[in-house]
Amino acid sequence: MEATATAGANIAIVKYWGARNLAQRLPTNDSISLTLDTATTTTTVRFEADLKEDVVMLQGKEASESARARVIAHLDRMRTLADISLRAHVESSNTFPIGAGVASSASGFAALSAAGKAALGLKLSQRGMSTLARLGSGSACRSMVGGWVHWVQGTCHEDSYAKQIAPPEHWDVRDVIAIVTDQEKPVSSTEGHRRALTSPMFPARLARVKSIVPRVRDAIHGRDFRTLGTQAEAEALSMHAVMLTSAPPLLYWLPATVELMQAVWAWRAEGVPCYFTLDAGPNVHILTLPETVEEVEGRLRALPCVQRILVCGPGPAPRVHERKEVSGELEA
Ligand code: PMV
Repeated sequence: MEATATAGANIAIVKYWGARNLAQRLPTNDSISLTLDTATTTTTVRFEADLKEDVVMLQGKEASESARARVIAHLDRMRTLADISLRAHVESSNTFPIGAGVASSASGFAALSAAGKAALGLKLSQRGMSTLARLGSGSACRSMVGGWVHWVQGTCHEDSYAKQIAPPEHWDVRDVIAIVTDQEKPVSSTEGHRRALTSPMFPARLARVKSIVPRVRDAIHGRDFRTLGTQAEAEALSMHAVMLTSAPPLLYWLPATVELMQAVWAWRAEGVPCYFTLDAGPNVHILTLPETVEEVEGRLRALPCVQRILVCGPGPAPRVHERKEVSGELEA
């Protein structure tokens, strides 16, 4: 009753921002993302007969109360599916720092779902796994699928899930993440999804997303980087326009965020193929092609506001680690 799984974070090209049912994390629009290879979470889940309560360790430390509650709620969903009541020991670590502006909840709940399924022997299809992960964190449903991914908003729990547009090897686009701060965001994305509906810009954003989803899908199929990048930038700005005009307003940007957005525009004017996108935080994701990663990295390193750089490419669906027998004992 133990398993370990690794899952990638993802970067949204078309964003999920706004939920019509937060308890079930049902979104107000479809979204499209790329699952990432090097920004991953690895989680081991062990269900034990003599545990009195669930133990949740994140990056070697006991999880905060709120993180622990979310993990336990997810364990409860899996215990219900398996019809057991055993408590679990969960240990999770990321290849990137939590709060670094990389979606740790997406890779975290994807890895937890994959490890939990393997540990409990749950009989769930890939679609069932995507809906399960979504209940932990909306964007986690996209991390259950490798490569280029489309989350269909659906109408209810069963039909709101992510499916593949194209596998990771279809198109090698890089996400160069410029970390400008390690601080945790002051307002959670859960609260942001609630506030989004108060923005007068929200209906306009929904109409816009409807029209661009097919264009972004076509751009992925046709490997059209200019369209992908242009839409990714416009999407990030549209989502942040909703954030800025919510009640109360949400401003995730720092001066360094604006500096980097303007730098990306200047570099593009000089001929470097690069486009920015942002999540619910101040760090800037720069989309570029493999041949210009070094150029972008070099330019970022020259900017004092950039603390660290992470380079990611397209990644696979979650992998469950094989357990092999070593001198009579099972090892992960
Ligand atoms: O899954 P959540 O609730 O952390 O929401 C993710 C929201 C964004 O990262 C800002 C956008 C997205 O689609 O990933």
